[in-house]
Amino acid sequence: MCGIVGYIGYRPVVPILIQGLKRLEYRGYDSAGIAVLDDRQQLHVIKRAGKVNDLATTVESLPIPSTIGIGHTRWATHGVPNDTNAHPHTDQDRRLALVHNGIIENYQAIRTQLLREGYQLKTETDTEVLTVFIRSFYDKVGDLREAVRLALAEVEGTFGIAIVSPLEPDLLIAARRGSPLLIGLGNNENFVASDAAAVIQYTRNVIFLQDNEISFIQQGEYEIRTIDNQPSAPEIFKIEYDLEQIEKGGYEHFMLKEIFEQPTTFRDACRGRILLEDGNVRLGGLRPVADKLQRAQRLIFTACGTSWHAALVGEYLIEDLARIPVEVEYASEFRYRNPVLSKDDIVIAISQSGETADTLAAIREAKLRGATTLGIVNVVGSTIARETDAGVYIHAGPEIGVASTKAFTSQLAVLSLLAIYLGRMRHLSPEDGRTLLRELQAIPEKIQQILQQAELIQHVALQYKDAANFLYLGRSYNFPVALEGALKLKEISYIHAEGYPAAEMKHGPIALIDENMPVVFIAPRDELYEKILSNIEEVRARGGKIISIATEGDHKIADVSDHTIYIPRTLPYFTPVLSVIPLQLLAYYIAVERGCNVDMPRNLAKSVTVE
Ligand code: F6R
Repeated sequence: MCGIVGYIGYRPVVPILIQGLKRLEYRGYDSAGIAVLDDRQQLHVIKRAGKVNDLATTVESLPIPSTIGIGHTRWATHGVPNDTNAHPHTDQDRRLALVHNGIIENYQAIRTQLLREGYQLKTETDTEVLTVFIRSFYDKVGDLREAVRLALAEVEGTFGIAIVSPLEPDLLIAARRGSPLLIGLGNNENFVASDAAAVIQYTRNVIFLQDNEISFIQQGEYEIRTIDNQPSAPEIFKIEYDLEQIEKGGYEHFMLKEIFEQPTTFRDACRGRILLEDGNVRLGGLRPVADKLQRAQRLIFTACGTSWHAALVGEYLIEDLARIPVEVEYASEFRYRNPVLSKDDIVIAISQSGETADTLAAIREAKLRGATTLGIVNVVGSTIARETDAGVYIHAGPEIGVASTKAFTSQLAVLSLLAIYLGRMRHLSPEDGRTLLRELQAIPEKIQQILQQAELIQHVALQYKDAANFLYLGRSYNFPVALEGALKLKEISYIHAEGYPAAEMKHGPIALIDENMPVVFIAPRDELYEKILSNIEEVRARGGKIISIATEGDHKIADVSDHTIYIPRTLPYFTPVLSVIPLQLLAYYIAVERGCNVDMPRNLAKSVTVE
């Protein structure tokens, strides 16, 4: 969602905050701001609508000597994105400045109470209400730490906050409920950030704050307590990735870099997990629940967006290879619809960020109802990773592009491994296991071959950049890929696109087809190939433009398509990993041709930590 960064130490704070905000900008980018205390303990707040670069230009002209401050990049929830609503917010006489991720649900009631007590509010935001609410407690108790604690105890909703104040100029306060926040531990300096990307330039040692914890951070020390004033025992994590992984490395966009990283990230997801001789898989994170998995009568995947599409592929994989019934649930629906669950059920959350509010809530709901919960997560130490009973990391490294690409294929890698692991617990023979694993090992090279066709895909993109609509059709394993291709296109190019099972086309969407409608068919040589050829003919008969994703060597399909993009042959279980790559590139190049900001598409944010 939004990004938070804070610093207390000995270095000039402004460049640290601006650099941190740039690294966090993918989390929200409709406005940005900083608040710093200068060496005379004066509070300076600079904020504005627009990108971090606009803010950077403003602050460069105002050198402020300071070594403590907070910054924020926003994705609007309450109030339009303008200078006033940008964070940080202050109380009326600027005794404290606060940045906030999340939503204060009872802010209207608190607002009314504050106005009654004579406090002034100048914005439409829940964050200003929280700021002034803390101030109101300070006026009563005369102690900033206690004021923050008392205010947060009365607040309903979610928050990750950071505060600086001239009332205690050597103190940075951070607190969380529902919105991720970490403390970066440096040498005689400390940091606060909503994600490690903002701090790894300075330190790899971090503490992930838990829900309902407040930290009081000074230059060389910190203290963490719960909101009800109990001491906490924090665990220090080491961040494993490198700075270059969160930089563009010569690519025009993070998204393109991440698409091209997929041979490596797919290999990383499988690394150390393939036991080729045994035809089996080692998933160390699942050891504690191995017995339960062996007995499982059904699995339920829950996720949102692209991760939900990966879950759909997981359903096909596990039902095919392990013969366990699988259900796939939108987390936002699952959490609210009174699902029937028992202690024999295993609910598996799939999430790149590990912080998606709906997915987290779905897992909590499943736990409450006695189910075992697992996580397939990318971000190490994230809330879903910590709150599930067991899980598997996908090891895709930081994904900065807002549109998910490499996380999707890494999720598919782990789901393939999981399906083989579960299959081998049941009927799947070691020989079949070996065949599958050998093919998984060959996938990175095949992804590489597809990436070499980027220029051809760019050429196709050029011809369709002005299309108003797109249809994506696939069958079986490639139906979820159709959904994913359509999602990629709409989120970064703003072209309306829909994905369907190819056979469903004639039950409605066929009415949309005319000579202006590009239809992307994902049509590898598999059992359903002839069926999908018939669907292609149905579109052709109505003048639609056909872009086919086909198996190399298939000339028949080229005769009935306007454009054919080839993918190498693989087993049907693994075609989604290959067939999605041209669709990612197609969406990317169309968006670039249309002049869209690919890494920061409008209205979106990387990790959706509100409902
Ligand atoms: C699409 C995209 C989103 C996410 C969704 C879930 O490109 O990135 O649809 O997949 O918000 O996010 P995670 O996987 O972090 O739970």
